[in-house]
Amino acid sequence: MNHSAVLQHWKAGMKKTIRKAVLPVAGLGTRFLPATKAVPKEMLTIVDRPIIQYVVDEARAAGIEHIVFVTGRNKQVIEDHFDMAYELEDTLKARNKTAALELLEEHRPQPGSTSFTRQQAPLGLGHAIWCARDIIGDEPFAILLPDMIIKSKVSCLKQMVDLYDQTGGNIIAVEEVPDDQTHNYGVVELAEKINDNASRISNMVEKPAPGTAPSNLMITGRYILQPQIFDLLSHQASGAGGEIQLTDSMLSLMQDQHFASVKFEGTSYDCGSKTGFLTANIAFGMDDPALAEDLVPFMREMMQRPIAAE
Ligand code: G1P
Repeated sequence: MNHSAVLQHWKAGMKKTIRKAVLPVAGLGTRFLPATKAVPKEMLTIVDRPIIQYVVDEARAAGIEHIVFVTGRNKQVIEDHFDMAYELEDTLKARNKTAALELLEEHRPQPGSTSFTRQQAPLGLGHAIWCARDIIGDEPFAILLPDMIIKSKVSCLKQMVDLYDQTGGNIIAVEEVPDDQTHNYGVVELAEKINDNASRISNMVEKPAPGTAPSNLMITGRYILQPQIFDLLSHQASGAGGEIQLTDSMLSLMQDQHFASVKFEGTSYDCGSKTGFLTANIAFGMDDPALAEDLVPFMREMMQRPIAAE
């Protein structure tokens, strides 16, 4: 469907707001062992919040009302993190620790606004999303991959929702990566522009072999998708890495539906990698003036050191 046909369809009353988001959190986090032996990788800390909290905050800032966590074994602590910590809060109250209490309240989702379901076997991202099908139902929804945290003035998902409000259809956040990195990601090919930051997507491929990527625009891990994706996922054959890939089902959905890319304003940190995790800690730490005061002299000193270990 081309862009003007989509808009007509849209104006004809097909629009539904994006109320729910899926956060797949079943991954094993092997790149961070032994830290992730007993602690889920999503609970590793950037400054003073677990990674997952940044992603939930981004979703809520985009107007998401209900978050579906697709979890796995040994991830119970994520559910605890978004619950009330009764004993702790009672003690804080008794000690008049108002600021700490308010902080906990501010980050706690409303009762009934989270769901948890398990991906019973590690069959891939597409399979994890499919596990949320009954909870999402027949409405468009967002997906946020918690390995990626995005530092931006306006929530990345909110930037996507703003485009969605004009175009409907399916929206994917993209960003440029060096050519020698494309094989690590899903990569899209763009067609005509919709505005300065958005274009129609004409093709996508998951983990293209080096030298075969259709562009250097990677899929950043933020999606708005129509619910028809679930039917496609339920029949999806394994793809890259022998896993059921979301990208493969999105490519099939693109035969019938409009897909647009958003080059979001902000910086992403791939916290699935040690470099991304460490740089995220520095970038978010620098937002706190008291921390920045200590960090800057330390980093200056570090800059004097040779890169290779002595
Ligand atoms: C997933 C997606 C991929 C995307 C990436 C972003 O891959 O399948 O399309 O580019 O997240 O981090 P994974 O990192 O799970 O291999």
